Amino acid sequence: MKIAMFDVKPYDVPGFEKYGAESGIEFKFYDTRLGEDTAALARGCDGVCLFVNDTLNAAVIDQLTEYGVRVAALRCAGYNNVDLEHAFGRLHVFHVPAYSPHAVAEHAMALLLTSIRRVHKAYIRTKDFNFSLNGLTGFELHGKTVGIVGTGRIGRVFADICRGFGMKIIGYDKFPAPDARIEYVPLDELFEKSDVISLHCPLTKETHHLVNHSSVERMKKGVVIVNTSRGALIDSDALLEGIKERKIGAACLDVYEEEGDIFFRDFSGHIIADDTLARLITMPNVIVTSHQAFLTEEALDGIAAATVKNLLDFERDGMGEHELCYRCGRMEECRRERKTKCF
Ligand code: NAI
Repeated sequence: MKIAMFDVKPYDVPGFEKYGAESGIEFKFYDTRLGEDTAALARGCDGVCLFVNDTLNAAVIDQLTEYGVRVAALRCAGYNNVDLEHAFGRLHVFHVPAYSPHAVAEHAMALLLTSIRRVHKAYIRTKDFNFSLNGLTGFELHGKTVGIVGTGRIGRVFADICRGFGMKIIGYDKFPAPDARIEYVPLDELFEKSDVISLHCPLTKETHHLVNHSSVERMKKGVVIVNTSRGALIDSDALLEGIKERKIGAACLDVYEEEGDIFFRDFSGHIIADDTLARLITMPNVIVTSHQAFLTEEALDGIAAATVKNLLDFERDGMGEHELCYRCGRMEECRRERKTKCF
């Protein structure tokens, strides 16, 4: 199989070269993103491999199928950038549902601790030989309540980490897990009771702008919001307003709703056009990392291995455990009990 891989960064290459060589899959690496203007690079390939900010909309799917591409392998968990309904019957779409929930959950905790203990401020001060402590007073996590929205793989690892810190855990999930050792509460109650809110649910129509003006109003004064999931779970303007009004105590963002044109690129020396992001970054209580929660050696290796396995499954059987289709998306059981091809 020949696969055109888009939005490739130097850290992606070793894993895909290793597992590609082992499996006989030839990867063509492109640093450009997949979209209507670049889909032609996949001409002559059997498949494409894409990441979070590549576009697989109806127009791109039509182009790819015209070039004979049969499979799209996402090297990430989320798939909100894919028109699954249009792909059905045209392009088989696979994703990597679980590579390392620890990578993301540990990054969420890293952001949280950095923020509430002002490590980001102290780091800059001591680099400048400023050893003053004024303004660096933090607070302890022990005894505080963390509200976890989405208690899947990552949310549960994050819950375990928080448990280790002696926090009280409450959660909200559309499909609560009885064995999660989490006290489930309605979403509004979670907003009202939490000292820290961490988002770990997927971005869907339902969860779009889950943090908005009215949910911020319900939150405790001083709440810390952590988002390592998808940017559009938060209405950025509502977040900014909540911060300006001193309602939100801190925000830790690994994702941003308009990140597509910004993250993963070097804009130092350029003028950022996104005023909301620029304003958020000026805030002393906002920490932004550019979608790096997944970026560990373990996760990169796991992603490459799982993506290659998905492609081999497809080559051998025309199907695989981690194929996504809009029907499977609707019927959870379908994914687990699938015995036949999606189409
Ligand atoms: P998962 O599928 O194991 O868990 C998601 C949970 O969200 C499930 O328990 C599901 O029932 C729940 N959920 C679905 N709809 C919901 C709703 N409307 N309200 C509340 N909960 C809902 O997924 P996993 O592996 O834990 O990943 C979570 C998210 O993390 C992904 O969707 C992805 O967007 C994000 N992610 C971010 C990364 C990063 O580098 N920042 C890397 C990997 C994933």
